[in-house]
Amino acid sequence: MTIPYRPFGRTGVQVSALALGAMNFGARGNPSHEDGVRIIHRALDAGINIIDTADVYSQGESEEIVGEALAGRRDDVFLATKFHGRMGEDVNRFGNSRRWIFRAVEDSLRRLRTDHIDLYQVHRPEEDTDLDETLGALSDLVRQGKVRYLGTSTFPPSRIVEGQWTAEKRGRERVVSEQPPYSILARGVEAEALPVAQRYGLAVIPWSPLAGGWLTGRYRAGRPQPESSRAARQPGRFDVDSTENAAKLEAVEALAVLAEQAGITLIELALGFVLSHPAVTAPIIGPRTLSQLEEQLGAADSPLPSDVLDEIDKIVPPGTTLSARDAGYVPPGLHDTTARRRVGR
Ligand SMILES: NC(=O)c1ccc[n+]([C@@H]2O[C@H](COP(=O)([O-])OP(=O)(O)OC[C@H]3O[C@@H](n4cnc5c(N)ncnc54)[C@H](OP(=O)(O)O)[C@@H]3O)[C@@H](O)[C@H]2O)c1
Repeated sequence: MTIPYRPFGRTGVQVSALALGAMNFGARGNPSHEDGVRIIHRALDAGINIIDTADVYSQGESEEIVGEALAGRRDDVFLATKFHGRMGEDVNRFGNSRRWIFRAVEDSLRRLRTDHIDLYQVHRPEEDTDLDETLGALSDLVRQGKVRYLGTSTFPPSRIVEGQWTAEKRGRERVVSEQPPYSILARGVEAEALPVAQRYGLAVIPWSPLAGGWLTGRYRAGRPQPESSRAARQPGRFDVDSTENAAKLEAVEALAVLAEQAGITLIELALGFVLSHPAVTAPIIGPRTLSQLEEQLGAADSPLPSDVLDEIDKIVPPGTTLSARDAGYVPPGLHDTTARRRVGR
């Protein structure tokens, strides 16, 4: 298995077609630092050269594990992290303000044991913060050499465009990537966010390509609920018996048959689907164990043939997201302020 490399938007940087997500490293997923370091080293040895983490993942612990693993190997990695999530009870220890960004970046640099972040991403838009406030602070970090490139995550299409226009009008650094939720079960971004990203030449690194585990084959009709760290944390999202998840379960059953007919695993079908979209640079995989990583590495060089993509469209039509919980973004007006103000999202 060879992992191909793809251009990261129009930056000239080449990244592997799979990115390694670090959300599962630390108390929230796998608390063993040794496991985390081993998984990261295996991914790097297999050719992965882009790692995605965030300050909020296990309240800084994920960044610490990544920093530990990259000792001596930092220069070989395109290192991405994020700010925005709540990092303490104080009223200002979260968000997209200049004040918080300048503090958050120092904390991330220290935990990651590095003097620069390759991609610093805004984890979510903040309705009451001027985008220019955020871009201005981030542009200063680029000029100080602490950050190389700017990215966003789960931005609605209008905000992606606003970011580009604000940068142009105010002479700020441009955002070069977007990190949206995207999988066979969450295709909402196909309608507008992905075409908009393509139009502006952004790199696209989708999160939850296996829909948090739904597309691994372990959640199946008539089978008992599997052991799962996700299901333990978010039971509603993974309960195979709930009516809310009935459409996902029905789709998974049909997709499992399709994968078998195509002679690949459901995981390969799911990752191959995300990789096949022309706007996508690299899906971010989220293994919690070494064996979960091994089962995903094989998918890197297998975009799907068009007849298989057509069959997927019949099971989950283009642009459809089967459960609102998988869409990631709560539209303005319905903005869930309780979630974003909670510690450790
Ligand atoms: N920007 C954002 O807002 C955002 C949001 C979410 C994620 N992310 C990024 O995207 C990355 C990936 O997201 P994700 O973790 O949700 O991805 P995912 O691949 O959709 O789900 C990962 C989960 O799938 C299960 N899994 C993975 N491989 C498996 C295998 N071979 N066999 C059985 N189960 C398997 C595991 O569940 P169990 O743990 O239950 O075993 C694992 O925790 C994260 O690490 C993070 O970097 C970003």
